Parts: sequence; structure tokens; C-alpha cells
Amino acid sequence: MKLVSGVWQPDCMPALSLLALVLCGGLGARALNNGLAMTPTMGWLHWERFMCNTDCQEEPDSCISEKLFMQMADLMASDGWKAVGYEYLCIDDCWMAPQRDSEGRLQADPKRFPRGISGLANYVHSKGLKLGIYADVGNKTCAGFPGSFGYYDIDAKTFADWGVDLLKFDGCYCDSVKLLEDGYKYMSLALNKTGRSIVYSCEWPLYMWPFRKPNYTEIRQYCNHWRNFYDVSDSWESIKSILGWTSSNQESIVPVAGPGGWNDPDTLVIGNFGLSWNQQITQMALWAIMASPLLMSNDLRHISPQAKALLQDKDVIAINQDPLGKQGYQFRKEDNFELWERPLSHSAWAVAMVNLQDTGGPRSYTISIASLGWGMACIPDCVVTQILPVKKKLGFYEWTSSLKMQVNPTGTVLLRLNTS
Ligand code: GLA
Repeated sequence: MKLVSGVWQPDCMPALSLLALVLCGGLGARALNNGLAMTPTMGWLHWERFMCNTDCQEEPDSCISEKLFMQMADLMASDGWKAVGYEYLCIDDCWMAPQRDSEGRLQADPKRFPRGISGLANYVHSKGLKLGIYADVGNKTCAGFPGSFGYYDIDAKTFADWGVDLLKFDGCYCDSVKLLEDGYKYMSLALNKTGRSIVYSCEWPLYMWPFRKPNYTEIRQYCNHWRNFYDVSDSWESIKSILGWTSSNQESIVPVAGPGGWNDPDTLVIGNFGLSWNQQITQMALWAIMASPLLMSNDLRHISPQAKALLQDKDVIAINQDPLGKQGYQFRKEDNFELWERPLSHSAWAVAMVNLQDTGGPRSYTISIASLGWGMACIPDCVVTQILPVKKKLGFYEWTSSLKMQVNPTGTVLLRLNTS
């Protein structure tokens, strides 16, 4: 595998502190050279919403079957999702038949996927979308279906033959850290050898952490994105824990993200049951700040117009997909507020103010403009636009001025600062 040079550019800011140097890209990291995921992957993934429901007799509309994916493909194409960038329709665990075929190849459950994965891939491609699939580096998938250990080359070739465009590679049932690391690397090379462009989505660091700190520089050389932390669930507790983990580890994980390789905090659960409206805004805003893959796990057949508008918000998506490709970070935490910022192309910045207090009403927070972007966000002045919770032009701000915002409990105000 050829390697390309890193994505970090020295234009971020002066080296005001070690933290600035680290978060703004002083380290440099090589990326997997498959030319994919130059901005974070966008699409849909079945796991959080549909889990491992294989009972198509009892629950024909929500079991893991080709019908579910074909319906989602239709909606992704017809309801504006594809138009704003959601492109990869991804199958998670529980698509397989319990056994490999006589030639050792994985096969889809024939009842639930009568046209096979290649038939489904053709359908998905006919809608102008791409198809993702799931497998596991160990002996079994997390839900107990056949694992890829000992079959990496065969499985990579099978996926390529079927016309698959993304592989999520899980890390259950792997006997040792060495096998885990070697397996993730081997599969990256095996996918590369097929000659097909297949985004490689890893869970390598998540399964490494119990043993030792992952080598993110190395992971980036093999994976297009990588899960670091536990599975998201449909709850505010889960979103808070993911944000907490990310900010606590930002000095290790932020510098390594960039075009071709991203930290993956798991799927967007917007449009489901567990998050209030303000909490859904917080997930969308912070996933944009964190340059996260935007993979929704929801039911596009039943989604409120409000959740749809949030997920399809072009200004938030533009922050997430910003071509500079630098991940944002938390830069202040006080009085139950968290402040995050992300450098964007053309010297713009995104700023998120999160009100973590879950009692009372909206609280105001005042920030001096000069404290944003290491003092560089607004010289000599800038135009500030509020993106979330509602779009609003806030106007010109000088470097010396301050900005006072009202933030709802567990909600977020997302701003964009453009130099004027
Ligand atoms: C693990 C992964 C999840 C999902 C399930 C499927 O828990 O982290 O994202 O893929 O396995 O079994």
C-alpha cells in the first residue's frame, strides 16, 4: 500500500501553546491512500434503530432484510437525503446466513435477502447510492454470525465481487490484541488488493483501549474511519458520554483526523425516540464540529419534518464536510457550559456553545470574540451567523467585542464566523 503525506497544514495558528500546536495540527499523520472519505462519510446505517431483528414473519417492516434497505434506498433518493450528501446505505450485523457456502464464502440469509447482496447492490447503485456491509475481524460477529478470521482475502474479494462500497469491520471474538491489530491491517490490504474502491470503517481503537492506548497514527494509515468509544444508544446519557470521552481524549484523537481518515463517534440517532429536540440539535451540531461521519440510524419512512430538516440542514452539513478537514475540539468548560470550536476553510470558524444544565430555562453565556480561534477567528472583524437552533444573521463583530447567547437546557447554539 502506498502512503501519502499528511493532511495537516501549518496555517492554523501561531504556536500559542502546546495544546494549540497539537490540536491545530502540529503532528502530521499519513492517511490510507485509497482516495476515499476525503470528507466524512455520509449515509445511513441500520444498527442503532433496527439492531438484530431477524424475525420477518412477525415484523416484516423492521426486520433486517433487503426490503428494508430497498425502502431506505428509495427514500434516500426521493426525499432529499442524497441531494444533501447522504450517500452510503449501510448494512450492519445480522445480514448473514449462519454458515459460509461450500467455497468458504459468506452468504446473505437467503430468506431475508433473496436477491443476494449483489442484487441489492445493483438496486442501491441504480438509485445513485453506494452500499455498505458489515463483517468482523474475529471468529464471529458480535451477534454470533460467521467472522472473517482466516477468510480475510476471500471476504474482501466477495464484497468487491458483489459491488460493495464500504466495509464496517467489527472487533468481537478476537483472541488477542496481536490478532486484532494484524487482522485490521490485513483486511485493509485485502480490500486494497481487490482494486475496488471500498471505504474501510474500523472499530480497531475501541477494541484496543482495554489493552493499551491505540496508535492512532498507524490506524489512520489503514482505516478511513475508526470507532473509539462504546455504541451510541438513543439517549442523552449516551450522547453526553460520547462527547465527554471525545473531549477527554482530544489531544490524542483530534490531530490525527483529516481528509481520508476520521474519528467515528457512531451514528446519528436524530429522528428516533430518546432525544429531546434540543438534544437532537446538540448531536447534530457537535457531530459537525467533530468532523464525524454522518451516518444516520433512524427510520426514514417515519421521521418528523423537524428532524428531517435538522439532518438535512445544509449549513450544518457544510461545517461537517468542510474541505479543510480539521476536527474541532472543546476549548472551555465552565458553569455547566461547554465551548467547542472548529477551524474551517477560508479562515472561518465554527463555534458551539452547549448548555449541559438540565434544569431551569435558557441560560446566557457571554464570550469575548478575541478568545475564539486562539485569538485569530475575527481579525479585525467578522460576520457571525447563527446556524442552530435557528438560522439568524447576527452581523458584524469586532475582535474586541463580545457575544452573548441564550442556550436552552441540553441544547446548543452553533455559530459560523466568516472573516469579512
Ligand atoms: C458492536 C458494534 C456496533 C454494532 C454491533 C453489531 O457492538 O460496536 O456498532 O455493529 O456490534 O452486533
